[in-house]
Amino acid sequence: MRTVSLFSGCGGMDLGFLNAGYNIIYANDFDKYAVESYRHNIGDHIVWGDISEIEATSIPEHDVLIGGFPCQPFSMMGNKKGFLDNIRGTLFFDVARIISHHMPKVVVLENVRNLKTHDNGNTLRTIIDTLEDLNYCVEYKVLNSVDFGVPQIRNRLFIICIRKDILEEIPSNIFPEATSLNLDKINLRSILESNVDPKYYLSHKILPTILSHGSGNYYSKSEIDLEIARPLTATMAKMHRANQDNYVTDPNPLAEKAGKTSIRRLTPRECARLQGFPESYDIIVSDTQAYKQFGNAVTVNVAENIARSILKTIPTINSGSEIHV
Ligand SMILES: C[S@@+](CC[C@H](N)C(=O)[O-])C[C@H]1O[C@@H](n2cnc3c(N)ncnc32)[C@H](O)[C@@H]1O
Repeated sequence: MRTVSLFSGCGGMDLGFLNAGYNIIYANDFDKYAVESYRHNIGDHIVWGDISEIEATSIPEHDVLIGGFPCQPFSMMGNKKGFLDNIRGTLFFDVARIISHHMPKVVVLENVRNLKTHDNGNTLRTIIDTLEDLNYCVEYKVLNSVDFGVPQIRNRLFIICIRKDILEEIPSNIFPEATSLNLDKINLRSILESNVDPKYYLSHKILPTILSHGSGNYYSKSEIDLEIARPLTATMAKMHRANQDNYVTDPNPLAEKAGKTSIRRLTPRECARLQGFPESYDIIVSDTQAYKQFGNAVTVNVAENIARSILKTIPTINSGSEIHV
């Protein structure tokens, strides 16, 4: 199925859909380094540019549109005006603009779990109303990456939309079933690299700050060596306290020789593994960019399970390639 990917980043969501047999014919992101990673590992079909400046007509016809757009508040002022007025000036406006031009059969959108409560639920309500006005049935669900084979807690909201002439109602089993992780086999320790460069190890000076619990409203217990990783974030490069980030004890003579402790952060490759990227995915950018890209990504396994589940639930979606405009 011809698939277009928006806000593609380094391609986590795209890899999942590709693994499930979808054919990605166009992708877009405005982050130069994410586009470099994508182009090197996935393909030349990614276009570098700001989506708000890209005409819908320059995007090829497609059956499926996927993408995770940044969450922004909407002005409710335009409530009575028409669906597009409520979302003008936001990136979701651009998603809706492209959908309304191409009318793909299926749309899969990803966002943070907090989209559900953002602006007292108005943001999600406006998104759903807009998609329904565009003639789609819409269902959403929060899925956690740990339920799909990787040792990372990562709750993300997925919105699945099917054009109403294809389905009048979306069956609840369109979302993939969670499977429990065999923690004896797969856990944070099992994805660690060996002989890690001393640069990833914490100095004796920074260790107390990293391990502190935080205070007041920001108090949360600082724990390292977790079995299941905390959610990777796009700002991991900056190193957060251990109550927000992932640190592991991994004694290493080279680090010791370099005057470091035996506790270290995760390497970019380990972050890639926690997001389900294959070993064949080359990391060609700096550590800072790699942490950002993997921290931003949709877990490949989750995307793949969604992609397969859609095909399984609505097999007819794969037949014919007519496009209703
Ligand atoms: C959450 S990340 C997407 C991750 C990606 N789906 C994946 O699985 O790897 C959101 C992406 O949106 C991109 N982005 C944000 N604003 C944009 C814009 N105006 N035009 C194009 N891309 C944009 C960011 O550069 C970032 O890579």
